[in-house]
Amino acid sequence: MRILAVSDVEDNNLENVISLKNDRLASVDYIFSCGDLSRKYLEYITDSVKKSLYFVSGNHYVLQFYGDKFKSFKMLRKLYYGKGMRFRFGGIDMHGRVEILENYIIAGFGGAMRYNPGNFQFEEFEMERIVKRTASAIKWIRFRDFINFRKKKEIIVMSHAPVAGVHDKKDRCHQGFKCFRKFIRKMKPILWMHGHVHFEDQKKEQNSILGKTLIANVYSSKIIDIAGYKINVDNVHSL
Ligand SMILES: [Fe+2]
Repeated sequence: MRILAVSDVEDNNLENVISLKNDRLASVDYIFSCGDLSRKYLEYITDSVKKSLYFVSGNHYVLQFYGDKFKSFKMLRKLYYGKGMRFRFGGIDMHGRVEILENYIIAGFGGAMRYNPGNFQFEEFEMERIVKRTASAIKWIRFRDFINFRKKKEIIVMSHAPVAGVHDKKDRCHQGFKCFRKFIRKMKPILWMHGHVHFEDQKKEQNSILGKTLIANVYSSKIIDIAGYKINVDNVHSL
């Protein structure tokens, strides 16, 4: 399974590959967005690559994704932020959601740590509630697979915010969630993709291992190949 993962900034390299109009991106199976990209840009990517989009919203451009719903009903909007609506402008909103993709279970968590009164920011306890509900949904899928003698599905997670202590920063806005770390310890996903953390120095390590999980900062764009437990993260120009 080959994923084109995008996040946070519009990537010139990716745009160049698209503008060449050759078939270098034809091998991509799915597009994943880890947030903070405008709706327009995501539409451009999906129209060009012509593959299904799975996304979480970041802390920017939130109203482009959610603003048209419950504009004046704050309470309803708060509930709605707990779980995304499945289909939005041709993409699948993965926030607080679990989907089965080939032989994998995909889960997503949008937003960032609350640092001002803005939209789509969460306190640790709010995100923990969403993470626990998602973990229960995954356990239920695995239980169904178990009683039906199906092969156990591995988990892939996409989030906007980072995991606490991995690629995150000290300031409130870029702190990672501790509940993500707990999820990794208990559920052992094979891959965790996130955005939100902009590395000024691109030489800094963007892939880390925590337990059995590869954590990849997909800032700008990455090509991620997954075959069983084997995962390879590369830049788009390597195609
Ligand atoms: Fe962000």
